[in-house]
Amino acid sequence: MIIGMASDHAGFELKEYIKKELFSMGYDVKDYGTHSEESVDYPDYAHPLASDISDGKLRIGILICGTGNGISMTANKHRNVRCALCWEPEIARLARQHNDANVLAMPGRFISKEKALESVKVFLDTDFEGGRHQRRVDKINL
Ligand code: RB5
Repeated sequence: MIIGMASDHAGFELKEYIKKELFSMGYDVKDYGTHSEESVDYPDYAHPLASDISDGKLRIGILICGTGNGISMTANKHRNVRCALCWEPEIARLARQHNDANVLAMPGRFISKEKALESVKVFLDTDFEGGRHQRRVDKINL
């Protein structure tokens, strides 16, 4: 499975760490940048990834900025993108089970590497429950 990843400068270090772990778990990663800690604008990296999710070219994405807010706000502007800001594995689990989230956003400046990696694993391994949640998810798009 190909996983898209993008960050700004504040999420760069965590993106690189998660990317390495994903490779060692056998996933393929498409890296949308950024590629250094030089200051950048998070929408320039979140939009291309979210656009690929919206167009069906990518199924799952991971976005990281300092707080996770800017990058998730940007991604959620795209139709069919359900980007969930998660800072605990349990929130990542519920984002999949209840919201069918297709993008995981994390706050690079406010989460440990261990918690972030665990959140990623849970996000990737958890299925959407459907049922009453499907009805709610169907009402998200405008
Ligand atoms: C960058 O300083 C910071 O504003 C950004 O990473 C993010 O937290 C915005 O939501």
